[in-house]
Amino acid sequence: MPYVQTRQYNADDGDKLRQFVSLDRLVLQSRTLRELIRFNLSVAKLTNQILFLADSLLIGVHMVSYRTVAAMIAHSSPLGLHRDQEEYVAVILSELSHNISGGENILANGPRDLVEKVNLTEEFEAILLSKKGMHQVVPMSSSNGRPAFRNVILITLSPFPQ
Ligand SMILES: [Fe+2]
Repeated sequence: MPYVQTRQYNADDGDKLRQFVSLDRLVLQSRTLRELIRFNLSVAKLTNQILFLADSLLIGVHMVSYRTVAAMIAHSSPLGLHRDQEEYVAVILSELSHNISGGENILANGPRDLVEKVNLTEEFEAILLSKKGMHQVVPMSSSNGRPAFRNVILITLSPFPQ
């Protein structure tokens, strides 16, 4: 599936057409995904009421797997502190290898006002992001050189058309 972020929101890969593998049909039809979306819509009704004033809502689901081995560094895009393009972003941990180092989410009020470093460690543990704050994922490496991974599900909500 093609995915494009604007350069305004992604200085590293903005305005580039990036290809993501489509979600597996079984995942799309799964009760787990339906419940995750339903739950996030309920949360957004409390936290982002303005979203529901739009004609329609664009629901994004991205499953991202950061993988690293040996001395390789895995990182998210964009690399540094940034705001996402979407009004509502839920970052949900789905799986984590014991030997991943990094991957924490840094939350900030601005480029020089770091607030907190959050480390998701439990399955389905999540953080919610909005355009009000900035965030960054700490680059990841393997603590023992063996293959390491951190898998997250991103559920995003945006007014549509934007
Ligand atoms: Fe982001």
